[in-house]
Amino acid sequence: MIDISTHYAGLNLKNPLIVSSSGLTNNAVRNKELEKAGAGAIVLKSLFEEQIEMHSDSLMQDSDFPEAADYIRGYIKANQLNTYIELIKKTKDLCTIPIIASINCYKADVWTEFAHQIQEAGADAIELNVFSLETDLVYENDKLRNNYVSILRKIKETVSIPVIVKLGKYVDNLPALVHALKHNGADGVVLFNRFYQPDIDINTMQIVSGNVFSNHADLGDTLRWAAIISGKVPGIDVSSSTGVHDWEDVVKCLLAGSTTVQMCSSVYNQGSEIISQVITCLEEWMQQTQYRSIDEFRGKLNYANIPDPGMYERAQFMKYFSNRD
Ligand SMILES: Cc1cc2nc3c(=O)[nH]c(=O)nc-3n(C[C@H](O)[C@H](O)[C@H](O)COP(=O)(O)O)c2cc1C
Repeated sequence: MIDISTHYAGLNLKNPLIVSSSGLTNNAVRNKELEKAGAGAIVLKSLFEEQIEMHSDSLMQDSDFPEAADYIRGYIKANQLNTYIELIKKTKDLCTIPIIASINCYKADVWTEFAHQIQEAGADAIELNVFSLETDLVYENDKLRNNYVSILRKIKETVSIPVIVKLGKYVDNLPALVHALKHNGADGVVLFNRFYQPDIDINTMQIVSGNVFSNHADLGDTLRWAAIISGKVPGIDVSSSTGVHDWEDVVKCLLAGSTTVQMCSSVYNQGSEIISQVITCLEEWMQQTQYRSIDEFRGKLNYANIPDPGMYERAQFMKYFSNRD
């Protein structure tokens, strides 16, 4: 009997496959369909700090009445939050799998009041999607890490449900950051968020949106960091995200040490059937390889368990094309 259940950040999942935060998870009825397709958990679309602020500011740009502006900003905020709270409640009413709320934030102060309401609405955990792309020329040591930690600590003070931090790739010492997050109460990390990709239209000379969807080539960094973090920072769960497109990618992430694996682009492109396909193929692979549970092979090829962990740290091509002119 094969058991594909897993424990992730304090939650019990029937399988390690999570549908990641996106427009796919913005509707309770659709979330039920994702559950029916076999998802082990769902991360709801993020509630964006930036979005709320921009929305209220754009409405209030020309106002001559600052008090009215404050009132309306407060109203819009509450309204956005109510819509999100409704999404959590309706999804929880329809689904039995864990439902993870997601909040996108970049400051430590604004979100704490919302986190409590999100918990009250029934979310099983919170994924903190902390957006940060450092471009300052004068680099303040530890600024980024301190910001992440202070957001996490404020949220942890406010809620008792698990808090997971979703990170982008552009962090200068990821193990040190994850280590700090772990010591400040993070229950898991999602590696990685895939940021909006800019492109340039050379005909219109405009900056345009690049491909919003990932592809297989994105998986390498996801594997590298699942392996390094799970090997070097034990005691915090890693959920792999970005570039996971089929069941083999899922198996690779688990071998690299991930506790769960998130899929987004592939569900957009192939529909929710990809979820059941992945689960079936994962079980078949376990049958063939005679693994009875995921714990039997999870992390088998992570940084701590292979003879040459430097394989995951190799950054240069040194010898790869040395025979070519
Ligand atoms: C259309 C779209 C909307 C997304 N919205 C969110 C979001 O609201 N919050 C978030 O944390 N990530 C969001 N993401 C990022 C995904 O959750 C995921 O981390 C990323 O797409 C990489 O996974 P993938 O390679 O499986 O697509 C979005 C991605 C896409 C394509």
